[in-house]
Amino acid sequence: MTAWRARLPVPREAFVPPVIWDDDPESDGFAPVSRESEPARWRALVDADEPVVTQVEDGRDHDIARAPTSSCSRPSLVADMLDALEVRPGQRILEIGSGTGWNAALLRDRVGSAGHVTTVEIDADVAEQARRALATTGHEAVVVTADGSGGHPAGAPYDRVIATASVRAVPQAWIDQTRSGGLILTPWGTDYGEDALTRLEVRPDGSASGRCGTRLAFMRMRGQRRHHLDPTDAELAAADRTITSRRGPELFDMVEFSRAAFTIGLRVPHCYLTVDDRDDEHRDVELHDLRSRSWAKVAMVRGEHPWTVHQLGPRHLWDEADAAYSWWLSNGEPAADRYGLTVAPDGSHAVRLDEPDGEHRWTLDT
Ligand SMILES: C[S@@+](CC[C@H](N)C(=O)[O-])C[C@H]1O[C@@H](n2cnc3c(N)ncnc32)[C@H](O)[C@@H]1O
Repeated sequence: MTAWRARLPVPREAFVPPVIWDDDPESDGFAPVSRESEPARWRALVDADEPVVTQVEDGRDHDIARAPTSSCSRPSLVADMLDALEVRPGQRILEIGSGTGWNAALLRDRVGSAGHVTTVEIDADVAEQARRALATTGHEAVVVTADGSGGHPAGAPYDRVIATASVRAVPQAWIDQTRSGGLILTPWGTDYGEDALTRLEVRPDGSASGRCGTRLAFMRMRGQRRHHLDPTDAELAAADRTITSRRGPELFDMVEFSRAAFTIGLRVPHCYLTVDDRDDEHRDVELHDLRSRSWAKVAMVRGEHPWTVHQLGPRHLWDEADAAYSWWLSNGEPAADRYGLTVAPDGSHAVRLDEPDGEHRWTLDT
């Protein structure tokens, strides 16, 4: 028995639907795997310490299933998140993102009969399936079909709020609905790169503050999804062209979460990074800001250097990312776990490097 199995007393099999989705190299997207027609493959996916994709493209008709929109998260991560949440018997818990209902069942198991679990799911079909799975397995939890950015005021105050979809801006409702001294655990990060598991404690003044930690790649909450620009050929022809001063390893640092990407995202507002490895020789790095309609691209070709930078719009996103990279280098190359976040009662998000009263603190434009 692996460590995570010992830490998760409710098996996930009963919560995973009969049709799930797996990588499909042919379409470069996802293809369905049915328990009925491919039982061994279905079981191997459910038994693995990996996320299981349970919905694609928000459940709508599609040609190619590219976007996973609901999943049952990786078991070892689920166990780590439950530990970080410090759930105790008798507590009132709010979960955002019911998905399969498995995490709600695990929460229920931890809070015991004196506790209470409410879970909010935006997708009506997904919510209904979670409701059924919880009822069938005998786990009492209230499943609410709603946009979780509003929390669930009827059940407040909560001792703990846990989000299983990621956010760029922590919704004020979550803080307002958590008692003073309570905890909010959420995957949090900018649009530049992945998220960090962030744990905030709610203070008597209505703010919430804490630290960023482990890297996570959760799906974004609907309402906070990232969007990209797709410039026309005419726009491209008019783009500013410069030459990269950075060499290959530095460009890789700039897009790696474990290297500079988390910091660059904190210093370059509203910048969505996309990386497309077209083949072993070609990597396209693009930066997008929909608000100002600014866009930048570096097309890297293995073995060649320097590369051309194309930049469009009022912001020169590549230059901003480049300056943020220099800041990262000159401040000890901080990883995500050196940052802290405070969300004030007015909703502003302030980050700090290392100590709360240290030299480097700034407010984010979320
Ligand atoms: C990673 S899955 C959750 C996994 C789930 N906790 C489980 O145990 O299976 C994320 C879920 O968040 C839901 N979601 C996305 N945006 C949401 C929102 N604004 N409010 C509530 N749920 C949302 C998605 O539909 C999806 O089902």
